[in-house]
Parts: sequence; structure tokens; C-alpha cells
Amino acid sequence: MSSDIEELRRELDIVDVISEYLPLERVGSNYRTNCPFHPDKTPSFYVSPSRQIFKCFGCGVGGDAIKFVALYENTSYLEAALELSKKLGKPLNISSITKNQRTLLALDRASDFYRESLLGNQSAGEYLKRRGIDTRTLRKFCVGFAPPGGKLAEFLEREGLLEDYLRTKNLVKISEKNYKDIFSRRVVIPIRDPSGRVIGFGGRKTDDGDSSPKYINSPESDVFKKRKNLFGLYEARDYIKDEGFAILVEGYFDVLRLFSEGIRNVVAPLGTALTEEQAQLLSRFTKKVYVLFDGDPAGARSAKEASRLLVRAGLDVHVVKLPEGYDPDEFVRENGAKELKKLISSSPELFSSLINGERKDLGERIKEFREFLALVDDEVKRFALASEFCAKNKVPFDTVWEKPKEKRKKDEQKLSFKERVFLKGLLVLKPNLELKDIPLREEVRRLAMCALLGHEHELPEDVLSLEVEKIDKIFWDVLEKMKNPGRRRRKRKEDVLKTEEKQVI
Ligand code: UTP
Ligand code: MN
Repeated sequence: MSSDIEELRRELDIVDVISEYLPLERVGSNYRTNCPFHPDKTPSFYVSPSRQIFKCFGCGVGGDAIKFVALYENTSYLEAALELSKKLGKPLNISSITKNQRTLLALDRASDFYRESLLGNQSAGEYLKRRGIDTRTLRKFCVGFAPPGGKLAEFLEREGLLEDYLRTKNLVKISEKNYKDIFSRRVVIPIRDPSGRVIGFGGRKTDDGDSSPKYINSPESDVFKKRKNLFGLYEARDYIKDEGFAILVEGYFDVLRLFSEGIRNVVAPLGTALTEEQAQLLSRFTKKVYVLFDGDPAGARSAKEASRLLVRAGLDVHVVKLPEGYDPDEFVRENGAKELKKLISSSPELFSSLINGERKDLGERIKEFREFLALVDDEVKRFALASEFCAKNKVPFDTVWEKPKEKRKKDEQKLSFKERVFLKGLLVLKPNLELKDIPLREEVRRLAMCALLGHEHELPEDVLSLEVEKIDKIFWDVLEKMKNPGRRRRKRKEDVLKTEEKQVI
């Protein structure tokens, strides 16, 4: 009988497997020993039976039982799997290993390669030190460095995983035996799925003076789905559970930096605005989230957008307001982690701040409260919030209670053909337009902003796949109709002129 790789993983017990090679000492619910993969005087190598993984806090290496054997015996993952499966009497059926599983193996090995390369690169090490990322954090996250040249390709070739890695598009074949690593010369941050498998990387340049983009992220692929994963979730999940809440920040370094400061329940989106899927994912791990974005107008806007999605995913949301001009890193540098923790824990829950309304005038609060209220799915909670608002602010109930459910349904309507053409047009033509002048449904407005910003992945499939001939013409017709919904088709001469004028712009 043959087995597949998932079955093999389930059947193996990592403590039994590693005990055959190393003496393990029990500490609480884990085991530890001296790490065999680096000179280790203190036992920094831990084995977790509940998670079936090993991890060295000295050098950062980690993985499952099969990977341990592969590293220890200096063979490939698949060979180690085959050997272990034979020992169990259920030889592995190699052909049953899927493409995606092989891609994931390749990503895991590439991550090891980068992690080891960081040890040999002084200037990248210094960069990380300057950014305030401590060694423990580097190891926890397996932060690495991508050396220039073809070293990664050579390494993967030896592992028999080069073809599999090419599918990620992190490495591009230029010619026979000539490959380009898209992260070359960058600090590389592995991105994991919630169960800890490396699915992609973010790469940051180490010289802010050069003109290349600050970050490069792995391209979207079968294994790397940006909208469905959160950076740091795997590393933070236990801390989120312990603390009872998560902190959502904007970027990779915010997470690494706060982690270094002992604030470890932190996650970030993957180089884009927060998505609905990410909000839902987070809601599986906690019911409370603190949104900690940069203290500038852009940060405040993204925080509001993120809050909407988080409320909609059923989370209790607290928005932390950093002083103008500060990001989490700068705030911690100047005031220390303790002050940041204080600021976080004193940040009011979103609805209660709207109910108790410091600063803002009542009219504005009513408007904002209603917007958020409409996103609350739980009817009982919605009613309770509405009642509280009205009692506290001494306004009649129907000021905030306008059957939010129905309003919401309307908002969730499918996109009409016109709206799809409009969005597609924004995406391809990137016209110079003021969205505020165009009457749009709220959801369409959000998508329109994404389209103009080039955040293609935010747009629904039926917009992306829409094929329109002469989009550059039809778009302007549709736009005109949207601006003047009541009017008949017939165009007046000056309108035609206006349209042409805009096209030139
Ligand atoms: P920021 O520009 O705020 O980066 O972008 P940051 O996290 O503060 O970076 P540091 O502190 O200067 O290193 C926030 C996030 O947006 C994505 C990254 O995920 C980044 O962490 N981003 C930013 C990109 O994907 N590409 C870019 O060129 C810039
Ligand atoms: Mn930032």
C-alpha cells in the first residue's frame, strides 16, 4: 500500500523521529536539545509534539519531521520522505505528490537558503540592526538576504527543486543556466500561511538611496494568494490568543519592529489595502482588533477602510491614533514600547467612540455611526448599539435606525454592466477624474479608487475578465450616463467636446 505525503506526516511522530538522532529533554509540553545545525552551547533546539514541528531559536532553522531527517542526513526532502515511509512499511507514492506540494517544498528551501545567506552578509545584518529588529525576531520570522548572482538557482538545482521554484515567478529564467532572483540584494521576509508554510516573500531594499521600489513582493500564484493571507499571523497566533486581541499594522517592518519590542500579537496585510478575506481570516483567530496605522491622513483613511471590513467580519474594532507624522516604529523609538502599549489599550472601541463622541459634532457622528452600523451583521447587537447611541445623545431612535439590513442588501447588489465597464475603463485607461463628482454606490466607489490606484487584485473577477471593444470610447459614454442618470442618450455638441477634451488629458 502506498501513502501520500500528508498521510506520512500524520503517521510520523516528530519526537520519535528526532529521538533516533538526538537526546531530547522534556520541558513542559515540549522537548529540547542542543542544535545539530549550528554550534550550540545552550539547548536552543525545541521540538513541539502538539504542532509536530522543530524550531531552533539559535539559528532559526525549523520544519517538520521529514525536513529534520533531510537536513540531518543531508538529502532532499523527498528522499527523506521516501526513506521514512519505507521504515513505516508504507512506501510513498512519489507521483501522488502534487505540483503545489513541490512548490511549497521549494519555497521552504529557498527560505532556508536566504536565512543562511543573511548570516554571511554583514551589511544586510547591519541594516536590520539599524532598523531595530532583534536577533530573536529575525530567527522567529526566518528573515533572510538574497545574494546577487545565480547562487539560489544552483542551490535549488542541487535540491532538485529548481523547476518547481520557477513556478513561483520569484526566480526568472533568462537563458540556459542564467536566472534572475527578483529579490536579489534585498532583505527577504518569508510570508507564511496560517499553518506556517512559506508561500511567498517580501523583499526590502537596504539602500533607501537607490531608485528601485522600496518593497518587492512575490507575484500572485497558485500557492501565493495575497488577498487571503496576513503577514505575521502564523508567528503571532499564540500571542493573539494569549492577549485576546490582534494589532493590525500597515507593513512588514511594523510587525518585525513591534515584535522586537515584545509586542507580538501583530499582523499586516500583504503590500495592499486590507481585503475582506483577510478580515474574515483574522476573525477566526480573535474577536478584537486594534488598528494601528501611520499617523497621517493616508493612514487615517486606510484605517477607516480597514475598520469597515473588520466590523463587517464581526470584530470589535479599536482605532489607535498615533500622533501626526508618526508611524509605530518612530513612536516606539521616541517613547518606548510601554507608552505604545498604553496608547493601544486606551484606544476606544469604534462604536463607543462614536456614541460618546469626543470632538466630532453630532451630525457628523450620526452619519458615521449609521455607516458603520449598517455593517453589523448581528441584529441584536445592531439594535443595542442604536439604542445606546440614541439614549446617550438624546436623539429619536429613527435618526440612526433606518432598516440598515435593507440598505446593506442594496449595497451588495451585483455590479451592473455599466458599472463594470466603468471600473474596467478606470483600470485600463487610468483617466484623470474626480470620483467625487460622479454618483456611485459606496462599494463601486471603493472599487473605483482601487482601480485608479492600480490595485487590480481588489477588483472582482467579472470586471477583470470583462472584454470590451473600444473601451476608450465606450468608457466616456458610460461615464456621461452615470453623471447624468436622468438624461437621454442624445449628446449635445458641447458634451462631445468636453468628452474629447478629457480624452486628451
Ligand atoms: P510603507 O511605505 O509604509 O512601508 O508601506 P513601511 O512598512 O513603513 O516600510 P519601512 O518601514 O520604510 O521599511 C507599507 C507596506 O506597503 C507595502 C509593504 O507591504 C509595506 O510593508 N509596500 C510598500 C509595497 O508592497 N511596495 C512598496 O514599494 C512600498
Ligand atoms: Mn509605514
